[in-house]
Amino acid sequence: MTKITIAIDGFSSTGKSTVAKQLAKALGYVYVDSGAMYRSVTLYAMRNGFIEADCFDEEGLVSQLEHIKISFKFNEDLGFAEVYLNGENIEKQIRTLEVSQFVSQVATVSEVREQLVKQQQNFGKDKGVVMDGRDIGTVVFPDAELKLFMTASAEKRAKRRYDELIERGDDVCYEDVLINVQTRDHIDSTREDSPLTMAEGSIKVDNSNMTLEEQFDFVLKHSEEKIIEVHKKKRH
Ligand code: DC
Repeated sequence: MTKITIAIDGFSSTGKSTVAKQLAKALGYVYVDSGAMYRSVTLYAMRNGFIEADCFDEEGLVSQLEHIKISFKFNEDLGFAEVYLNGENIEKQIRTLEVSQFVSQVATVSEVREQLVKQQQNFGKDKGVVMDGRDIGTVVFPDAELKLFMTASAEKRAKRRYDELIERGDDVCYEDVLINVQTRDHIDSTREDSPLTMAEGSIKVDNSNMTLEEQFDFVLKHSEEKIIEVHKKKRH
């Protein structure tokens, strides 16, 4: 069957990665978490003194970009690809609230975006990819055959993220998580370079009141219909 590109964009903590992983598994596609790449660069910046207290040394980070190598390796047990920074598995370290607090700022830097977008386009060059992020349908794959835009209320999203962090054993309070979600929404959608917007032709998925199963059924149905449509077009 013909392979397509599926771009999933949306606000933070809308469950993009959950649905993207499910879709990739069901279709036999590769899943790429582009947010993990911005988080990896942020972790590198924190570890190397480019982010200290509230101070972000943007120039310093940009001068080191060539030393940041991000890769993904499929973990059979987990059923998805984990992210590696210069050969080290950092899947857990990038999901902390601390990294979340700085990542949107790092993601405003054009040089960072340019480097990561190139790599993301390379991951998707053979199609058969599901990628989630903020600019996948607008910048990374403007020609993606299927574009989904996920959204839900900030409170619902904060509650989901809070539950996740608590389950991991992190010591966080709900209000801090809500503020982080709202702050990131604002920075992500108002930045100059590649702000989060709904790409033309996107299907909007508001999952505030959807179960995971309903959401998955909805996106799978749209994906299968699109794959058949593209397949038929190619044969004619
Ligand atoms: O999806 P996430 O929450 O892991 O993403 C972390 C941050 O990275 C998010 O606040 C904005 C940024 N990001 C981006 O600017 N462009 C992308 N394609 C993916 C993420």
